Amino acid sequence: MTLTLSDSELLRKGSYIAGAWREQGVGVLAVANPANGNVIAEVATVDRAGTEAAIAAAHDAMTSWREVPAKVRAQVLRRWFDLMMAHQEDLAVIMTTEQGKTLAESRGEVAYGASFMEWFGEQAKRIDGDVIPAPSADKRVICIKQPIGVVAAITPWNFPNAMIARKAAPALAAGCTIVIKPASETPLSALAMAELAERAGVPAGVVNVVVGSSSEIGPALTDSPLVRKLTFTGSTEVGRRLEQACSVTLKRTSMELGGNAPFIVFEDADLDAAVQGAVVSKYRNSGQTCVCTNRILVQDSIHDEFVSRLVAATAELKMGNGLDEGVQQGPLVNVGAVGDVEQLVQRSTEAGAHIALGGARSDLGPCYYQPTVLTGVTPDMAVFRNEIFGPVAPVTAFRDEAEAIALANDTEFGLASYFYTRDIGRVWRVAEALDYGMVGINEGIISNEMAPFGGVKASGSGREGSKYGIDDYLEIKYILMGGLDR
Ligand code: SIN
Repeated sequence: MTLTLSDSELLRKGSYIAGAWREQGVGVLAVANPANGNVIAEVATVDRAGTEAAIAAAHDAMTSWREVPAKVRAQVLRRWFDLMMAHQEDLAVIMTTEQGKTLAESRGEVAYGASFMEWFGEQAKRIDGDVIPAPSADKRVICIKQPIGVVAAITPWNFPNAMIARKAAPALAAGCTIVIKPASETPLSALAMAELAERAGVPAGVVNVVVGSSSEIGPALTDSPLVRKLTFTGSTEVGRRLEQACSVTLKRTSMELGGNAPFIVFEDADLDAAVQGAVVSKYRNSGQTCVCTNRILVQDSIHDEFVSRLVAATAELKMGNGLDEGVQQGPLVNVGAVGDVEQLVQRSTEAGAHIALGGARSDLGPCYYQPTVLTGVTPDMAVFRNEIFGPVAPVTAFRDEAEAIALANDTEFGLASYFYTRDIGRVWRVAEALDYGMVGINEGIISNEMAPFGGVKASGSGREGSKYGIDDYLEIKYILMGGLDR
C-alpha cells in the first residue's frame, strides 16, 4: 500500500545523514499501519557505522552552525515552522498511518510540533549572558552562553513529530547540531520532518536522522565522546540504562520518562468539567501518552455519580481506523501493547477490581483494546502502580484531602498530575503538596510550547519547551577580565 499525499516527496525511505538520503542501507525496516497491519513503506536502515557517520557530520557542521547569527538561526526555524504548517495534512496522514492516532490528533500534534520551531526560533534571539560584580576594581566578570555541542535525541513512537521538534528546535536555536534516532514504529514522520528541514535551509549535517535498531544506534550515540548531550523520551527502564551508558563520557542528559498521573476529583468540583477533563486526559492518543491520567481518585461522596457519568462519556467514544471520519479512538501501536494492557487489567481484576465498562480486546483488529473503566482499584493493584499506556481508567475512592494527596504521591513517578476543585485554598494546598513536575487544576490537557514540560523522581530530569527548555542545550562560560587599572 502506498500513501496518498499531496507532496509525495515527504515519504522518505532512508536515513538522512550529512544532507544526503541513504535509501540503500544495511537492512530494511517494514513500517506497518496498526489499524490493519498493512505495510506502508520499507525504510533502509543504518548500523553503528552509519550512526558514527551521522555523528561525524553533526560534529563537522557544528563549526559553522554555531557561528550563524541567532537572528538567522531563528529565520531557519521559522521557515521550518511554516513548512510544517503548510504540509500539516500530509504530515498528519503519515502519522496516523504509521502510529494509529486519529487524524484530528495527528493534525493537532503537527501544530504542537511546529509550535516548538516557532517558539525556540524566537528564543534563539534571547540567549543572553551576564555581567557579575567583580572581586576587585581592576576586574570584570562576564558570563556567556555557548552551544553544548552535538546532541543525540532518542524519540518515542507516541508523538512521532512533536517529541522530535521539542528537542531539535532548542538544539538548533542554541547553535547545536543533532542526530535523531526515531522509534522504529514511526520513522516516516521523522524523515518527513528532515525533508522539510532541508527545504527550510537547515545546512547539511545540522540535522541528521538515523533509522535502525536501538542495539546498533544506541551504543554509537552513548559511547561517542563527540556527542555532548543526550535527550531521551521513553520508558524509565530505558532511561536508566541510557543514563548509565552516558556516564562514561559524562554527557549531559535530559530524560522525559514514564508517568503515573493521578487525577483527583474533590466533592466540590464541577462534575461535568471533571468528567470531560478525565476523558480527554485519559483517552488522548488511546491512553498512550506519558501524561495521560493513569489513576482517577474520587472523593467517596461523589464517587458513584462520577463513575456513572464517566462510564457514559467513555461509552460514547467511537473506535476505529484513525483515518476514518468521526473516529475518536484509534488502535494501540502494536499487538504487544494490547497484550500489556490486557495483562494489567487481568492482574487487577484478579486482585478485586471491577470492570464497569470494556475490559477486553475489540473485534476491530489485533491492535484494538476497548476503552475501559475499572472501579474498586486499590494501591496494591497493577493498574495503580504501573504506567498503563492504554485506554483504561482505574477509579479509586478516597475520604479526604490528606488521603487524596497521600494516594496521589504513592508512586515512584512524578510527571503530570491533575485535580478538580473550586476551593481556592485547596487549589494552593494540593498544588504545592503534589510531588510532580506538572499540575493541571481543573484542566485535563496541560502541554504547550510555552510551559516547562518535565518530571521529578523516576519520571526523569530536565525541562522541555518554555524559556527554560533551551538551557539544557547551552553551557555557561565564565570569563574573568583582569588588569583593568584606570
Ligand atoms: C509524551 O507523552 O511523551 C508527551 C506528551 C505531551 O507532550 O503532551
